[in-house]
Amino acid sequence: MAIYFNEENRHFYLESKDVSYVFRINRIGFAEHLYFGNRIGRENMEYMQSIGAGSTYAQMPGERNQCYSFYNPEICFYGTGDYREPTVMVKNPQGDRLCRLHYIGHDIIDTKPRVKGMPSLSGGQTLILHLEDELTRFGADLYYTVYEDAPVIVRRIVYKNNSQNDLILDRAYSFALSLPNKDYDILTLCGSWANERQMQYTKLNRGVVSIDSKRCTSSAVLNPFIAAVSHGTTEEQGEVIGVNLVYSSSYILKAERNPDGKGMLCGGINDFDFEWHLAPGEELEAPEAVIAYSDKGLGEMSRAFHDVYRDHLINPRYVNAKRPIVINNWEGTAFNFDSQKIIDMAKAVKGLGIDTFVLDDGWFGRRDDDTSSLGDWFVYEDKLPGGLKPVIDAVHENGMRFGLWFEPEMISEDSELYRAHPDYAIGVPGRVRCTSRRQYMLDLTRKEVRDYIVDSVNKVLEENEIDYVKWDYNRNVTDNYSLELAPERQKEFAHRYALGLYDICERIVNGNPDIFFEGCAGGGARFDPAMLYYFPQIWTSDNTDAEDRTRIQYGTSICYPLSTMSCHVSAIPNHQSRRSCSMRTRGDIAHLGATGYELDTTLLTDEEKEAIKEQIIAYKEFSHLILSSDLYRTENPFEGNFFGFNIVAKDKSEAVFTCYRRHKVEEQVKFVYPRGLDPEKKYYIPERDVTLSGATIMNAGLQPWYPHTDFASYVFHFKEVK
Ligand code: DGJ
Repeated sequence: MAIYFNEENRHFYLESKDVSYVFRINRIGFAEHLYFGNRIGRENMEYMQSIGAGSTYAQMPGERNQCYSFYNPEICFYGTGDYREPTVMVKNPQGDRLCRLHYIGHDIIDTKPRVKGMPSLSGGQTLILHLEDELTRFGADLYYTVYEDAPVIVRRIVYKNNSQNDLILDRAYSFALSLPNKDYDILTLCGSWANERQMQYTKLNRGVVSIDSKRCTSSAVLNPFIAAVSHGTTEEQGEVIGVNLVYSSSYILKAERNPDGKGMLCGGINDFDFEWHLAPGEELEAPEAVIAYSDKGLGEMSRAFHDVYRDHLINPRYVNAKRPIVINNWEGTAFNFDSQKIIDMAKAVKGLGIDTFVLDDGWFGRRDDDTSSLGDWFVYEDKLPGGLKPVIDAVHENGMRFGLWFEPEMISEDSELYRAHPDYAIGVPGRVRCTSRRQYMLDLTRKEVRDYIVDSVNKVLEENEIDYVKWDYNRNVTDNYSLELAPERQKEFAHRYALGLYDICERIVNGNPDIFFEGCAGGGARFDPAMLYYFPQIWTSDNTDAEDRTRIQYGTSICYPLSTMSCHVSAIPNHQSRRSCSMRTRGDIAHLGATGYELDTTLLTDEEKEAIKEQIIAYKEFSHLILSSDLYRTENPFEGNFFGFNIVAKDKSEAVFTCYRRHKVEEQVKFVYPRGLDPEKKYYIPERDVTLSGATIMNAGLQPWYPHTDFASYVFHFKEVK
């Protein structure tokens, strides 16, 4: 049994692969955290109780020398003398914001229940710990799911109004995780458009390190991920506790260390501009937090996230399905195309191995630039006479399937939709709205608006042979206001936007199970686990420059598997960086994910076409490893001149090792040391025509024979010889 309750000492033992999570119900009835780390025995851990003296500390009711601030809570509440971040703040009818959540019972169930209206992981054994405030009857159910196949615990909280009165939540986080009194650094993934998920370390001093989004999206600025890592943690050494939220709207994640040295990670829905009204009998479900543990460095933590997302989050129909190799016209044409151009582009790649043509922005309404037509999901006949059919037929004739771009959450002021329904756009009546990318956003908190989106997008999908959809989202919410919500409920907007988004995803994405959906958000501005539940892959960044991509893809791989990263080869000089990397380097870096090409194919020379054909043959030979393998990162491009990803089959029978050198003049003779191979197995290395043991390869290393240029790549293949 992976979850065990000892009735005598009221200890709960939660056991995921290789890890234990232990807490107890203490004498007062509070859930008291005891341990999270490598697997230990089911022993009595009362001895861990912290003792501290001092009359200035608040004492627990009925206890002497037992202070709130000395015990480690599973949920932290306000007004008790524990001044760490409360997990929940509830406004009671008499105006106070206090609650003391006592244990009233628990259930251990075999199958993890889904979160209502939100994406969540599947899973097995789950503990539901029922807590309630004696005075107000406000309750919280703490959910914990364990996984036999990953060192991961998934947590969330359901807040319940069991009282006879209305209650208001000012804060409703998903979890609080006490950390031992150790020195940690905090790792986050920060960035901006075209520079997503850059690794950033901050020392956890006394105080709070907090990251958040107030944008109603998880954002390119700070991914909903935080990790506490011991000083000096590397890919292979050091303790790491990583948390990733399954949420796509405004969130917050915090790491705290109090004056006594005790630490805590917590977070969930951002409590900035948040309030949630709970009538008697109502509940609020907070999004899930996926918590991974590793005492073997960041690499092990990343592999834990990758495994649990592939096995328990991403649509099982697509998670291991061969990914389409696409040609997308966006960087090649932007809005300047017509049917003939698209047909010519499709003809130009016939026979190269590309299997899906994706027609990007500009096919609908009267869209010639970004000033118009979002929301008008009907074909722009001036550009595409006769509709999409002639283009789709030509794509089919050239041996490819057809994909189409949408931006379902948006509305342009210059659109038929806006002229008919200006109220559909988010905004406060009488106040001029902010534009961003010259567009507004649709108010997904309103059912009528959601129905319009679902019906108009589904109509295009039903009327045309579409195999693939790219779902874009190019701006953040401003003018937060919903016409549907009463004035006192306007602070529910950000979370209701998320619920609205998940509703339309459910109805469009899950309603069209035969269509492959790719997520996108002006590049990678909404790359989060909740989106992965709907979109098995996400456009990683609008920056397709191979050099910049080494850092973007390395940072993204901290949480997200390679199969989820959409990565394309584009033209040079690169549109974003103006840098020119060789075709080989562009291919090698773009092949570290779900690959494709993004350029004007009618301009390709015969030589370039031949190179693409060869690249695709090579990619297809190892693309199964992109879907399911273990990633071993070697050189870190945030720290030096090199980048290295060894992608190793689960059974260690083969691997592909991609190496990259930024500047030619630094360390020209540089060996690399692949990780993750089986030391006992023998591997054939075609690049050297030699067979060596995994031990020799990993310890003695190999020299990549880089071309004599900057931004150079080299790939080794390791194939087991029996
Ligand atoms: C932003 C996306 O990231 C691009 O790939 C492209 O689809 C444009 N939007 C189209 O407007």
